[in-house]
Amino acid sequence: MLGIPGVDIDLGSYPPVVLAKAVSLKSDPLETAKWLAQAKPEIEHLLVKSGVVTFRDFALSNASQFDNFLSCFDGHRAGYAGGTSPRSKVAGRVMQSTQAPPDREILLHQEMAYTRDFPGRLAFFCEIPPRSGGETLIGDMRKFTAEVPKAFFDKVKKLGVRYVRRFRNPDWKPGHLDLDVLHRSWVDAFGSESREDAEAACRATGSDCTWTEHGMEASFTTPGYVTHPVTGEEIWFNVIPAFDLNAVSQGKRFQDLHEQYYGAAHPWPQAVTFGDGTEFLREEIEALYPIVDSVTTAPKWQRGDVQLLDNILTGHGRATFTGQRCVRVMLLA
Ligand SMILES: [Fe+2]
Repeated sequence: MLGIPGVDIDLGSYPPVVLAKAVSLKSDPLETAKWLAQAKPEIEHLLVKSGVVTFRDFALSNASQFDNFLSCFDGHRAGYAGGTSPRSKVAGRVMQSTQAPPDREILLHQEMAYTRDFPGRLAFFCEIPPRSGGETLIGDMRKFTAEVPKAFFDKVKKLGVRYVRRFRNPDWKPGHLDLDVLHRSWVDAFGSESREDAEAACRATGSDCTWTEHGMEASFTTPGYVTHPVTGEEIWFNVIPAFDLNAVSQGKRFQDLHEQYYGAAHPWPQAVTFGDGTEFLREEIEALYPIVDSVTTAPKWQRGDVQLLDNILTGHGRATFTGQRCVRVMLLA
């Protein structure tokens, strides 16, 4: 591990930082990709150990170079079809990170844990660091798993977790700009204006699909935990705390907006229950937020940083921010 040429590795920080030292790595984007291809076994070893690795001071300044840097890692085959967050493609495999409003914190979650085909790894790239805030939050899901109340974890294991996502009809919007962005239409989520094609794309993700007067309802039941493919560890793998819409998960302003613009008349964009449809007790949900807080850290972005995450071992989110922020993301196998 200590023998990777061209870099210094700080194993004492979380996340560990791989710092480019060789002039070629600091000046030539093509060299960075060659280096990573050679260092890949050691980097993967580090990734399983720590769950996340930061690359710093490499010659990376745009989305194409970011894509090329990670060309030795396969992309996530299923892509982002049916994903919940508003985002679009930038270049190659690279997408915008979430376009959720700056004052909406995105709570720690594992990417697409609400679907069958979730990415094994993710990479973020900081093209423009925000003026303040805007960190990509990260958290150790091994620690999270150890701290979830056992009775609740056992209940999740027994019943599973059911997610319902309600993609709106494209001709209806909640009527507030922030909610209009957050609540995706089924056309946007599945990339087709045809109901048949959108439904086929939804079912291809493993979700059930029904149509209501408000749009498409996609539902999927998961075990709520996974066995890590390399280490065999049993890890909490669901997005219950972030997915349940309440004043803690989305903040008071967004909770108030939902009550005002959806109320009881219009179904809210998403819901989560036990796998048999039983509602969580409020205290079961509320017990999770202090654990989210206790494992979440907010490393400061530096321009050109790349964060490579194991999507099972490390959760991610986004802090609120001011100013311009340009962070890209790639879903990897
Ligand atoms: Fe995410």
